[in-house]
Amino acid sequence: MIDFFINGAPVQAENDQTVMQAAQANGFFIPYFCWHPKLSVPGNCRICTVEICNEGQPDGSGWLDIACNMPITSGMRVLTDSDRVRARRKQTLQFITLNHPVDCGICDKAGECTLQDYHFEFNGTPSISIDAKVHATKHFPLSERIVLDNERCILCSRCVRFTREISQSHGLGIQNRGDQSLIRPVEDGAFEADPYSDNVIDLCPVGALLARPFLHQARVWYLRPTRSVCPGCERGCNVNVWHRKTEWQVKALDPRVNARIDRVTPYDNPAVNGPWICNKGRDLAQVFGRARAVQALQKGLPVATPLALAQARTLIAAARRPVALVSSWASNEELAAFEQSLAQRLRSFVKTDCQPEPGERLQDDLLIQPDKNPNRAGALALFPALPADVATAFAAETDLVLVWGEGFNFAHLPPGARIIYLNSWLQPENGHADVFLPISVMTERSGTYTNFAGVISPFEACFAKAAGVLDAQAVFTALAMPLLAAPAEAAP
Ligand code: SF4
Ligand code: SF4
Ligand code: FES
Repeated sequence: MIDFFINGAPVQAENDQTVMQAAQANGFFIPYFCWHPKLSVPGNCRICTVEICNEGQPDGSGWLDIACNMPITSGMRVLTDSDRVRARRKQTLQFITLNHPVDCGICDKAGECTLQDYHFEFNGTPSISIDAKVHATKHFPLSERIVLDNERCILCSRCVRFTREISQSHGLGIQNRGDQSLIRPVEDGAFEADPYSDNVIDLCPVGALLARPFLHQARVWYLRPTRSVCPGCERGCNVNVWHRKTEWQVKALDPRVNARIDRVTPYDNPAVNGPWICNKGRDLAQVFGRARAVQALQKGLPVATPLALAQARTLIAAARRPVALVSSWASNEELAAFEQSLAQRLRSFVKTDCQPEPGERLQDDLLIQPDKNPNRAGALALFPALPADVATAFAAETDLVLVWGEGFNFAHLPPGARIIYLNSWLQPENGHADVFLPISVMTERSGTYTNFAGVISPFEACFAKAAGVLDAQAVFTALAMPLLAAPAEAAP
C-alpha cells in the first residue's frame, strides 16, 4: 500500500493505482469523460485535472495534471477541488463545448448526461467564443439500431475503444483531424454485425449515440428502473428494465404505453455480466410485447378459471402415468413450488422453451451462451433433462402430459394422452390442450434464476398481471390441494 493525501486527508492506495482509481476507492469525486474502468486510458478529455504536489511541497505549489493517467507515489498530495482545479475545469468545458450545439432541450441524454452535469457544476456560463460553431452531421445512421449526432460528440473515443477492446469487432473509428473529426463505422459492416454494439450508447457520456427504438420516446425522469435478469441465454445478464413511473402515466388511447418496457440497460454485476449486455438483452420489449394469453380454455373453448383448474385437478387425479415437461424459463421459486406440490405425482423432465433464432450468435468468449433458456441450471438441479429422443420420456401408458412453457412441439406428445398446458403467449397449441391456463411472465412476478455458472440473480415485478392470468406457483398449489389429501398411484 502507498500512503498519500487527498485534499489534506491521509489515504492509502494499491501499488499500481492511479489518482483516479485511488480517489474513487477512498470516496473522493473526480469528474471524467474519456476514462472508464473497463477500457484503456487515452487521457484525451482533460476534465479529470487535479492539482498535485510531491512529498514535502505545500498544497497549492504543485502542478495540474490528469488523474486518470497519474500513478500514485508515496507522500503525493492531491487536491481535487481547489480554485486552480475548478478554473481549469471551467476552461476545459469551454473548450469541449466550443462546437457543441448545447441542444439539451431536444436531447434524449438530458437528465443522465455527464456533460450537462459538469457544465452545471464547473462552468455554468455561456461560451466565450466569438467564432461561429463548426457544424457536423446531426443524424448519422451509425447502424440499424443507433443514430449518431456528431455535433454532440466530444471525441472521448470510448465507443471506438469498446469495439476494439471489449466486443473486438473493430467496428468504429475516427475520421479526419481536429474540429473535422467524425466517429464513423468501418465500411465492412463490422459495427452493424456487432452483437454488443448498443453498449456504446451507455458508454457515450453525452447524447451523441442514441438508440433508435427509444429515440424521443420518453424523458428519462419519467421512467424508473426495475432490477431484472435477461432471459435471452443462460448467462442471465443482470439488467435494469425501464418503464414509466406511476406518477408520470400518460392519458393515451393505447394503455399499453404505460405498461411497456421502454428500454433495457445493464445492471453491473461483476459475477455475471459486468457493465455490459448483448443487443438481444436490449430487445426484451419485443419478447415481452408479444400477444399474451389471458383466457383459460377447455378444448379450445373459453372457460372460467376455477372450472379450468377443477378440470385439470380431475385429469391429474384420474391419470395413471402422468408426465410433466418443466419450463427452463421458470424461476427457482416456481420450480420449488412445483417440486413440492406435483412432482411426486408426475414424472418430470426439464424441457427447452427457446431455441436460437436464425442468424443469432450462438456463443462467444464475452457473454453470449449457447443455451437460450435462462434457468436450465435451476431446473436441472431438481429434475432430469428431457431426453433428445423425446419419445423415451413417455412410457407406453402415458395418459396425461402437463406442458409448462412454450417451445414444445405437440406432435411429439403420446397419442391419446390428455394435455394440461401452462403458457403465457397466444399460440396455436393453447387451443389443442384439454385444459389451458394462462400464466404470468417474469415482469409480473419476482423470483430468481440460476445461471450456467451457478450464480443466482434476482428479478422483480414491474407490471401488474392482466385479469385471468395466474402465477404458476398459484396454479400448482391449487392443483395439488386435493391430490395431497388423496394421493393417486405413484409415478414410476
Ligand atoms: S460518440 Fe460518444 S462515446 Fe463516441 S467518441 Fe463521441 S462522445 Fe465519445
Ligand atoms: S448475453 Fe445472454 S443473458 Fe446476456 S444480454 Fe445477451 S442474451 Fe441476455
Ligand atoms: S478522464 Fe482523464 S483525461 Fe479524460
